[in-house]
Amino acid sequence: MESKDRFFSELMTALSLMMDLDENRKLYHAWRVAILAERMSRDILPEYRTQIFYAGLIHDIGAISLPDHVTHYTDFRQHFKNPILFNHSAKGAEIAREIGPLSIAAEMIMDHHEHWDGGGYPRGLKGNNINLGGQILRIADTFDILARVRPPLDLNDMKTALMSRRGYEFSDIMFELLVSTLEKDNFYEEIMDDKKISEILPQIVGDLPPVDLASCNSDLRNTVKIFAQVIDAKHSYTAGHSERVANYTYKISKALGLYEDEAEKFEIAAFLHDAGKVAIPKSILDKPAALTVEEFKLMKRHPVYTMEILSMVSKLKDLVRIAGGHHERYDGRGYPDGAVGQNIPLGARIMAVADAFDAMTSLRPYQRTKSREEAKEVLAKNSGSQFDPEIAKVAISVL
Ligand SMILES: [Fe+2]
Ligand SMILES: [Fe+2]
Ligand SMILES: [Fe+2]
Ligand SMILES: [Fe+2]
Repeated sequence: MESKDRFFSELMTALSLMMDLDENRKLYHAWRVAILAERMSRDILPEYRTQIFYAGLIHDIGAISLPDHVTHYTDFRQHFKNPILFNHSAKGAEIAREIGPLSIAAEMIMDHHEHWDGGGYPRGLKGNNINLGGQILRIADTFDILARVRPPLDLNDMKTALMSRRGYEFSDIMFELLVSTLEKDNFYEEIMDDKKISEILPQIVGDLPPVDLASCNSDLRNTVKIFAQVIDAKHSYTAGHSERVANYTYKISKALGLYEDEAEKFEIAAFLHDAGKVAIPKSILDKPAALTVEEFKLMKRHPVYTMEILSMVSKLKDLVRIAGGHHERYDGRGYPDGAVGQNIPLGARIMAVADAFDAMTSLRPYQRTKSREEAKEVLAKNSGSQFDPEIAKVAISVL
């Protein structure tokens, strides 16, 4: 696989896993759906294996701004009442379309909540008017909900549970396809086992024909930028935050006299600096009042999750400490490591200034928005304590 393609798959894989973090436990919803859908497609849609796999990985990405994980909304009527849920397929399709090489996956995502009898959403499509990949995602999605019933169902009970939905939620053919897939080669045991899932997934990513990135103009930076928008969508107050921090980081880096490739590297890290926030409950991210000690402790884990995400992506390995260090303070009173002065990577020291500047100058629930001049005064005041003095000085002159 070419390195650009690999970058893309690894980034998607890492982010989808993090989005599935729930109260510190990985749910593997996206991974299980992706693995199962890909396996089901091998006989009937072999040429679309790659697309269906990535469609599975990000099928619920449009629901990122929901307060609870999407799998918690098991009552189907709620899907029609809650506008975020109702629109998540279309929103997810829109995101996939923007990624460029995933335009076929986008159509599958669009239809993943349509029901065979026309009772699904958003378009109420019926029968084979529903995208075939969308039909596979539908049954794989339901399978995963049932896979998390405790104690776990054996294969026969699973079949019975699914049987009651055939003919209205999905077709007889989909049901038969799923059952035959589950029965082959002990696949049912594998797909029910979270540990196995985390082993199988990277294997599939390696085996699949790569996403054709050459066919579109979506380069690394653009892909990262789209992911940054998705990350920001998790939070009600942070639209555009990651992109602005990336811009400020690049500007400061150049003004400090860094080489172009170094500045670009820091910019990419800045686009992803808050990626770990996808794993923090929305109730904490959006809380209009001060956080409790426990909540703050959880909130402070987001740079650690960011590091976990970036370290799953081989091309981003040397950005791990840079992106993860954006809440370190020059005086050592920051988090997660409490690193001091020059021990904090340069990129992280720059990003700390960029991040604080944007937080002060944009709308947040807990503060009055500051003007740029006021924000610069704060940078000056905290120079040498929170911020590297040299970087603060340069930032004040270029921001
Ligand atoms: Fe969904
Ligand atoms: Fe789902
Ligand atoms: Fe942050
Ligand atoms: Fe931030």
